[in-house]
Amino acid sequence: MYIESIELKNYRNISDIKIKPHKKTSVLFGNNAQGKTNILESVYYCATGRSHRTNNDKELVSFDKNEAFIKLMIRDDYGRIDRIDINIRSNGRKGIGINGIAVRRIGELLGTLNVVMFCPENLQLIKAGPGERRRFIDMEMCQIDKLYYYNLKQYYKVLKQRNNLLKSIKKTDDTLDIWDMQLAEYGAGIMDQRTDFIEKISDIAADIHSKITAGSERLSLEYKPNVSRDAFYKKLVQSREKDIYYGNTSIGVHKDDIVFYVNGINAREYGSQGQQRTACLSTKMAEIELIRQEKNHYPVLLLDDVLSELDKKRQEYLINNIADVQTIVTSTGIDDNIKSICRDGSIFYVENGKVIKK
Ligand SMILES: Nc1ncnc2c1ncn2[C@@H]1O[C@H](COP(=O)(O)OP(=O)(O)O)[C@@H](O)[C@H]1O
Ligand SMILES: [Mg+2]
Repeated sequence: MYIESIELKNYRNISDIKIKPHKKTSVLFGNNAQGKTNILESVYYCATGRSHRTNNDKELVSFDKNEAFIKLMIRDDYGRIDRIDINIRSNGRKGIGINGIAVRRIGELLGTLNVVMFCPENLQLIKAGPGERRRFIDMEMCQIDKLYYYNLKQYYKVLKQRNNLLKSIKKTDDTLDIWDMQLAEYGAGIMDQRTDFIEKISDIAADIHSKITAGSERLSLEYKPNVSRDAFYKKLVQSREKDIYYGNTSIGVHKDDIVFYVNGINAREYGSQGQQRTACLSTKMAEIELIRQEKNHYPVLLLDDVLSELDKKRQEYLINNIADVQTIVTSTGIDDNIKSICRDGSIFYVENGKVIKK
């Protein structure tokens, strides 16, 4: 799968551009604050129905405009073209079209385009809070499995309703039961899917990690559910009183985590910074391979200012292993590495929301 063209109108600082990324590598190069990440963000939006850096869609519309437009043409491995149209209004509403047909739900968009976004913050995944690690699982899994997206969406909807009720009642009440049952049901689905996903990504990441470290380190990822699947409902009932007191649901998949082990030792607690960062790189690269296995095509890789964060060995590993993946990379300069990945690619110069092909 690869992107044939990206058209943006009134998107952040970009008033009107059309670019045709190279089938292999495209470099967006330019000074800071010119619009490079904005372009990657718009591509990410087409894959996931959301920005990777804000929950507030209004921010995506140019300051003085009412509506932003994204149009992407994608070609799959059989030569078939798909077109994604997104329009985002300054009141926060949005419209999504696939091949000219309006779709009402993000769930219908998911899977049309697959992307893996890699930015410097991802190298902090192990050190970050559990919310970041859940986000990593969720964004990857939603692209692979619509049922997961559906379960997650329903889970959070029910969670919100339960939390609202907790805040409005004074003592334990049977009205909680309907929410507890639903949370347990959607939660069990999510836990099953997360178990399966983390097992798969752990195997792939272990392989990659072993290659990067020339066999000297063994990486594994372990799913740490906040509550056991089968005890979830019972535990919810038991925690009702406490939850009413705090006005919040204290247990559930919204508190899950993943633990990273290097050579069997918890990398968050005992790993060196180098080990942690390599483990993050391996995991990120495993996302690409997992999408290939699950979807039978490679995702598009978006590398935002990340190459300069990696040392030479890791840069080389990354560059040598993305030959079959369409990659769009941002950079503030053109150094030897950028040149080497661009032997087969295009360079675009980005300045003040405008793009010139070099
Ligand atoms: N809604 C918006 N309307 C107009 N400009 C915006 C909007 N949101 C962000 N910007 C501008 O976009 C620029 C940042 O673009 P970005 O893609 O993050 O830069 P970089 O090239 O460093 O990756 C900044 O100049 C910022 O002011
Ligand atoms: Mg940027």
